[in-house]
Amino acid sequence: MIHETAIIEDKSKIDEDVIIDPYVIINGNVVIGKNTSIGSFTTMFGGLGIKIGNDVAISTKVTIAAGNHAYNKFDVPMGRSRTIDSVVFNRDIKDGFNVVIEDGVWIGSNVTITDSVIIEEGAVVGAGAVVTKSVNKFDIVAGVPAKVIGNRKSNPIFIKSHEL
Ligand SMILES: CC(C)(COP(=O)(O)OP(=O)(O)OC[C@H]1O[C@@H](n2cnc3c(N)ncnc32)[C@H](O)[C@@H]1OP(=O)(O)O)[C@@H](O)C(=O)NCCC(=O)NCCS
Repeated sequence: MIHETAIIEDKSKIDEDVIIDPYVIINGNVVIGKNTSIGSFTTMFGGLGIKIGNDVAISTKVTIAAGNHAYNKFDVPMGRSRTIDSVVFNRDIKDGFNVVIEDGVWIGSNVTITDSVIIEEGAVVGAGAVVTKSVNKFDIVAGVPAKVIGNRKSNPIFIKSHEL
């Protein structure tokens, strides 16, 4: 279900059973897998490509920026430099995408994810983090810049669905 206030560019590809909450903005080359949910006010700058897997939970006010202005070029003023013009930062990180969020990841609220990052399967990103480097499977990261604070597999709790 895509809320009527969400703004999603035609270039994006959104799979079935995705929930997109009010005021989400998705622009550029963004691919989103099945059963993923995107919280209110989240903004994705698709620039060099964002791929989000299945069953991912993205909370509110998350920013994902798959590219940078070409800040080390001096012939073009920053206000006129477009992220996707940038040959300087044309980094294909995985499968032709610059930011990849794999299946089953949970991104807390107010997180920023910068360019050239892979967040591997099942990882958790704590509220308010700025993720500048890739995150390993099932790791829990938090802080600015985000650092590992735990791993989901080190203290697993299994609750049967009828107990929830
Ligand atoms: C990341 C998170 C899941 C960790 O929860 P947890 O496993 O219970 O972790 P704890 O509370 O035991 O914290 C462990 C340590 O990490 C720190 N920490 C936890 N979350 C943090 C965060 N978001 N930013 C910075 N540090 C954090 C704690 O202060 C603690 O540090 P200490 O060992 O020095 O005391 C949780 O804190 C979080 O941020 N959840 C996201 C909430 C959210 O955004 N919800 C939106 C609705 S989906």
